[in-house]
Amino acid sequence: MSAPAQTRLTGQLPRRRVLLTNIGELLTGDGPDRGPLRSWQDYGKRGTLSELVILQQLYGYWQVEWIGDPRASDRPAADSTVDLGGRTLLPGLTDCHTHAVFAGNRAHEFAERLAGRSYQEIAQAGGGILHTVRATRAASLPELVDAALPRLREMAACGVRIVEIKSGYGLDLASETRIFEAIGLLNARLAGRMTVVATAMPAHAVPPEHRADPAAYVEEICGQVLPALALRGAAFVDIFIEKGYFDVAQAERIWQAAKKLGLKLKAHVDEFADVGGLPWAVAAGATSVEHLLTTSAENIAALAQSSTVAVGLPLTSVFLREPFAPLRALVDAGALVAVATDCNPGSAMTTNLPLALQMAVLGGRLTPMEALRGATRCAALALGQPNGWGGRLVPGGPFVATVLDLPSIDTLFYELGAPPRASDILYSAGIR
Ligand code: NIG
Ligand code: FE
Repeated sequence: MSAPAQTRLTGQLPRRRVLLTNIGELLTGDGPDRGPLRSWQDYGKRGTLSELVILQQLYGYWQVEWIGDPRASDRPAADSTVDLGGRTLLPGLTDCHTHAVFAGNRAHEFAERLAGRSYQEIAQAGGGILHTVRATRAASLPELVDAALPRLREMAACGVRIVEIKSGYGLDLASETRIFEAIGLLNARLAGRMTVVATAMPAHAVPPEHRADPAAYVEEICGQVLPALALRGAAFVDIFIEKGYFDVAQAERIWQAAKKLGLKLKAHVDEFADVGGLPWAVAAGATSVEHLLTTSAENIAALAQSSTVAVGLPLTSVFLREPFAPLRALVDAGALVAVATDCNPGSAMTTNLPLALQMAVLGGRLTPMEALRGATRCAALALGQPNGWGGRLVPGGPFVATVLDLPSIDTLFYELGAPPRASDILYSAGIR
């Protein structure tokens, strides 16, 4: 009696094998995490002949089961086939640093900066982050979701499958919590297209009501805000360690509280001035340090010896007319280097990850392979490999992929500022 019942149960599991065929270029991302990459072969490009990927659905997740040559005899039988029509298939693009949930806009400040006022001058006069905090505090939950959803849809249209979103435009318990509720709703709305990783960043600026007593705000972060955000799914805490924002002692206090809540550490460091944030974060075991415009040779060497990912944000340099982070030197030294958009209203009003990759190449002097590794493998590392996603397509690993309506991966870099090129072909075939 028991054997047939088991057979029936097994038969009910939602398992399906799909053959992906007629792939123009397949990039697996199988290559070293560190050091220079000089050819696509170094980053797992598989032949010029279309190759095949077999997938298997296990409990709703898609896995890579087999990668190989169409003529190989060991290819598992599939239930159906998706013809990619010569498109390019690569590991799912990952934007590992954004501040995409906010209300209002700062076009007027952008114009002021172009007329000669600095980012810091605007911030000191009560604009900058605090301008967006006022608009975000005044926005309802549905308004926050409505403002952010088009940004995330634009990212998805560029091929982004995993996005990190930081809070930090609320700066009090109720508003930071509302931002996290918005992140949760956005994650649900985008299910199947994008996965959101949430980072708690109440230490983005000191809010006006605490200006006279920043220590009280640090205590509010530790005692109230972080516990609420941890409960609502925060994976990381991020701290803006910068002149006029938070210093290393405050960062240490916040990190001790965050660690007890099970959060991992990220830090914004060396964006305008080196105030010692980078060596502190590396010693604290940070998953990533981000921005790095003013990073010294000594700090580059410290990163190269660590498993902390250096996150470069080249569009922030362009947008602020600041120098590029030393991305070339970081890769050459052997650091883990990711590339992201920094999508935010003040220093990088953009959702375009491919453009960030292009600028990492043209301004940051990375090779295209190194830049793409920065938005796949190293971006996955910068997010602590969410759900086991390691940023590459390997047999036995999760299948999170981007299909580009492009004949080759080189074209992604060649077509400067091109319109979004992600193809919906896998989503339409039910592979989500
Ligand atoms: O990553 N550096 C701090 N935060 C943002 C800018 C935020 C803003 O100007 O609104 C950044 O550049
Ligand atoms: Fe940022």
